[in-house]
Amino acid sequence: MPPSAPSSEGPSPHDLNCLTITELEALAYERMDKQTRDYYNEGADSGTTLAENLSAYQKYRIRPRVLRDISQIDTTTSVFGHTNAAPFGVAPTAMQRLAHSDGEIATARACRSKGIVMGLSSFSTSTLEDVAAANGSNPHALQLYLFEEREHSRKLINRAKKAGYKAVLLTVDTPMLGRRNLEIRNQFKLPSHLSIPNFAEQDEDTDSTVSNTDTSDANTASVERKPTSKSKAQANTKERPASAAGRLDEDSKKRVLPSGPITFHTHAANPTLSWEESIPWLKKVCAPMEVWVKGIATAEDALLAVHHGVDGIIVSNHGGRQLNGALATLDALPEVVAAVQKKVPVHVDGGIRHGTDIFKALALGADFCWVGRPVLWGLAYKGEQGVELCLKLLLDEFRLTMGLAGVTSVKEISKEFLCRIDRDGFASRL
Ligand code: FNR
Ligand code: LAC
Repeated sequence: MPPSAPSSEGPSPHDLNCLTITELEALAYERMDKQTRDYYNEGADSGTTLAENLSAYQKYRIRPRVLRDISQIDTTTSVFGHTNAAPFGVAPTAMQRLAHSDGEIATARACRSKGIVMGLSSFSTSTLEDVAAANGSNPHALQLYLFEEREHSRKLINRAKKAGYKAVLLTVDTPMLGRRNLEIRNQFKLPSHLSIPNFAEQDEDTDSTVSNTDTSDANTASVERKPTSKSKAQANTKERPASAAGRLDEDSKKRVLPSGPITFHTHAANPTLSWEESIPWLKKVCAPMEVWVKGIATAEDALLAVHHGVDGIIVSNHGGRQLNGALATLDALPEVVAAVQKKVPVHVDGGIRHGTDIFKALALGADFCWVGRPVLWGLAYKGEQGVELCLKLLLDEFRLTMGLAGVTSVKEISKEFLCRIDRDGFASRL
C-alpha cells in the first residue's frame, strides 16, 4: 500500500499503512529482533496484569453530550509548569536504541516537535545531556532508580539539574526485579555496539579485571560499557567486568552493596528504600527539580506520598513488568484519586493505546497519562517519524473523543462522562 494515496483532495495526511496504535504494534513486530520484541512487549510471569492494564479500559463507556458548540477544542494541559499539547507524555522506557539506531534522541525530537513531555529512563542508550539538547525547551523528566550506593544517584541527579530536567520520577515498584521469563530464556544482553552511557563515568571507577560471569539473580548478562580508553583492551579481548547485585550477608546479617559496572539487572532494584529515609534525601538532593513517585497502586501509599511531600504521584505497575497479579492501573486509580484529594497531581500509565483511554483515565480523576510501549513501536517502525506518528495518532484520537463527547477543555472531563459496564453488560452511572 502506498504511504499516502493521492485523492481528488490531494495527498492524504495519514500514513495509510498505519492508522492505529494496534497497526503500529504489528508493523513494529516485524521490524524488531526477537530479543528486543520480547524485552519490550512481555509482562512479568503469565502477563495477566499487563493484559488487564489494557482490558480495564473496556469496563467503561463514554456518555457523550451534544449540541454544545465544540468548534474550538483545547487539548492542552499543564505539566511540570509547562503547557503540554495534550494530557499525555512519553513514559520512560529503557534502552531505546534496541528499537532504532537513533533511540532516545529520535524520541526527544519527536516529543519536541509535538509539544509532548518526555520521561527519560536512567538506563537509556543516550546520555541525559544529549537527550535534553535534542528535546530543547520542551520539558523533560528523568526517571530514577535510587541506588544503594547513593553517590551514583547523586551524580546523575546533579547532571540532570544542570541539563535542565524539570522533575525526577523515582521508580518505587522495583524493590526486587519482576520475573520476565522471555528475558531469562533469551539470556537478554545488550548488543556490544550499545551502552548505557549515563553511567560510563561511574563504571570507569570500578575494578575491571574479571570475566563475564553474571552473578545477578535474574540470570541475565550484564549491560556492557561504552569502550573507554580504560576499557578498550577488555573490549578487544572480549573480557567483561562482572557486576554483582546487592545481597544480605548471611553471617554478618549486613548488606553487601552491588558491585561492578552499573547494570539494570544488578543495580536497579533496591530493597532498602523507605519512605522515611529515601524521600527526604531525594527531595534535598533534587531541589529545585520536582520529586515524583512512579509506581503507586494503593490509597495507603498515596497518602504516605503526600505526607512525605512529593510533588506528584504516578499510578503505575511498570507496564505489568513487576508484580504480576497486581491491580490494573485504571482500577487502582480511583482509590488513589480519592485519597489524594487534589493535594498533588495524580498521573497514570499502563495499557493506554487509544485517545479514548486517555479520556477515560481523566474522567476517573487522573490529571495526566503516560504512554510506554506504543512509543517503542513507533521507534521500531520509523525512528523519529514513527514516534511522531504514534504521538499524532493519540493526539488526534483524543481531540476527536473530546469533540464527540462534547467537551472543549481538558478540565471539563469528569466522571459525568463515564459509565461502567458490569459483568452482564449493563451500564451504570459512576
Ligand atoms: C519500562 N518501564 C520503565 N519504567 C521505569 O521506571 N524505568 C525504566 O527504565 C523502564 N523501562 C521500561 C522498559 C520497557 C521495555 C517497558 C515496556 C517499560 C515502565 C514504563 O515507564 C511504564 O510504566 C509502562 O511502559 C507503561 O505501560 P505501557 O504504556 O507500556 O502499557
Ligand atoms: C524494565 C526496566 C528497565 O522494565 O525498568 O525493563
